[in-house]
This record gives sequence, C-alpha cells and structure tokens, in this order.
Amino acid sequence: MHPDFKQWTTECLALTESFLEKRLPTSDCAPTRLHEAMRYAVLNGGKRIRPLLSFAAGELGDADKTRVVVVSAAVELIHAYSLVHDDLPCMDNDTLRRGKPTCHIQYDESTALLVGDSLQSLAFQLLAEPAVTDEPQAQLKMIQQLAVAAGSRGMAGGQAIDLDSVGKILSLPELESMHIHKTGALIRVAVILGASCSNKLTQDQFKQLDHFAKCIGLAFQVIDDILDAEASTAALGKTAGKDAENNKPTYVSILGVTQARELAHELRQKAEESLNQFGAKALRLQQITDFIVQRNF
Ligand code: IPE
Ligand code: IPE
Ligand code: MG
Ligand code: MG
Ligand code: MG
Repeated sequence: MHPDFKQWTTECLALTESFLEKRLPTSDCAPTRLHEAMRYAVLNGGKRIRPLLSFAAGELGDADKTRVVVVSAAVELIHAYSLVHDDLPCMDNDTLRRGKPTCHIQYDESTALLVGDSLQSLAFQLLAEPAVTDEPQAQLKMIQQLAVAAGSRGMAGGQAIDLDSVGKILSLPELESMHIHKTGALIRVAVILGASCSNKLTQDQFKQLDHFAKCIGLAFQVIDDILDAEASTAALGKTAGKDAENNKPTYVSILGVTQARELAHELRQKAEESLNQFGAKALRLQQITDFIVQRNF
C-alpha cells in the first residue's frame, strides 16, 4: 500500500472509529449485555472498506469530513449488523469473525439477533441527525437510499437469495444478481451517500459514480469468494473454506479461480473507466479499487 494512501486511510478511519466509539452506548448503560455485545460487534475490527469509500467519494465534491463521518458510521453499522446475522446458525453458522468468536458464540443467539436489530436502528438514528446536509430534502433522500440498500431490494434480499441458493447451480446472471444485492448494495450506497455530503456533483456524475460502485461492489464479493477458497483462516480472521462446506454457489464454484480473478480484473477496469471524468479528485477511489482487487484478506 502506498504510504500516502496508508496515511489517508489511517486518518479517515480514526474519525470513523472515534465517532462510533462515542455514539455506541457504553457497556455500563442498561441493558448492559446488549450494549457490550453491540460494541463487541462493531469496534476494533474489519477492513472498514465502506467508510473509506464514503470518504473517498466525499472528496469528489470536497465534502466536509465532519459530515462524511456520519454516513460512514451509519453504513458500517448496517454492515456490522449484516455480519452478526450472517454468522448465525440459521444462516452461515460461523464461529470466527474479524479474528474473534462470532457475536452469538461470545454472547448467545438471542443477543446476536438483538445486536443486529439495534445496530440497524442506530444507523438510521445517526443518519437522521441534523449534521449531515444543509438540505432536509437531500437528507431524507439519503435515509431512503440507505433503507433501500439494506432492505429486501438490497442486502437483506441478497441474503435471502443466498440462502435459497444452497446446493444449487446458478447461472452467471443469477450469481451476479445475488452478489450485487447481498454485498453490492451497501458498497454502492456507501459511495453515493459519501458523495451526497457535498452538493457539487451533477446527476450525470452520480450516474457514473453509481456505475463505478456497482462494479467494485461485485468485484468485492468475487474476491471474497476467491479468498474463501484460497486464503487461510488466520489471514481472513474468519473460517476459510466455508462456502464449499456450506454448499454455496460462488464465483469459484461456478467459474473456477482463474476465471473469477479475470472477472475481478475486468470489473476493476470498468470501475476505473467510470472515474475518468473526475480526474485527480478520484485518486482515493482508484486506490481503494486497487486494494479491493489485490487484497489478500
Ligand atoms: C465481509 O465483508 C462480508 C461481505 C460482504 C463480503 P468485509 O470483507 O468488508 O468484512 P470486514 O468488515 O472487513 O470484516
Ligand atoms: C455476506 O457474504 C454478505 C453479507 C450481507 C453479510 P458472505 O457470507 O460470503 O460473507 P462472509 O464470507 O461470511 O464474510
Ligand atoms: Mg453469507
Ligand atoms: Mg458468511
Ligand atoms: Mg464469503
């Protein structure tokens, strides 16, 4: 990772981390077990790709970081909730997440269920606070966009397709649709909400940016599928080889690793083309795209 990019990510993530730290209820606040478990699921973990994407997209229109941090936290809370539920025995039945026991192992299943519910509510609570834009109308639209991305037409819907696909061979369009929903939707909204914190972008620029985000959202899950098959549990901080064990159709099971990697590279190219018109302001989005495709964890 280029040292300048590393420094930029460290600065952005320090903002998100301290915002989340302050806004998650403390573990001495009742109900203490739930609050402790919420903090356990969110703090000190994960690559924080979605917050980074919000900051990088915010830079396209010189958005104020004190605004972007709110949307970065809201999207990360929805993501953390999705992971807690994804790991439950009724879904992927995983015991390790971000290098630690999953929430339902560390606490219990009912607590994990409520952690997910509460993180989702907190995300919307934060996004509804006055600090995000000058325009109430624009902020309402952002709240609506996050709701759609998290719901049955977005992440939760993608998870439903995922569970329904166990043991099936999906066609490529079906697989793409599953990934675009379960993972792409939140990545896309992280980008769009970050950019929405400034009011400098045109409709056409939002369209280009949405195409960019769609490509990297899909690429992100293609690489996640490859890493599940190829990386170690120690590197991933989650149990490797679970997709095959759970009989999930993935880009690896349908295309094989080599073709899946080629697809990720094609998606990276398409994504980077959509950034052309933004010039130097898109540097961070480009660097994150490279990271998404080259990562080994
Ligand atoms: C894992 O997401 C689940 C997917 C949507 C592929 P991440 O790979 O972003 O997980 P963390 O946040 O870094 O732990
Ligand atoms: C999960 O996809 C996508 C979510 C909405 C959480 P995976 O089930 O592949 O994520 P991991 O591999 O457990 O992180
Ligand atoms: Mg899953
Ligand atoms: Mg999973
Ligand atoms: Mg996976």
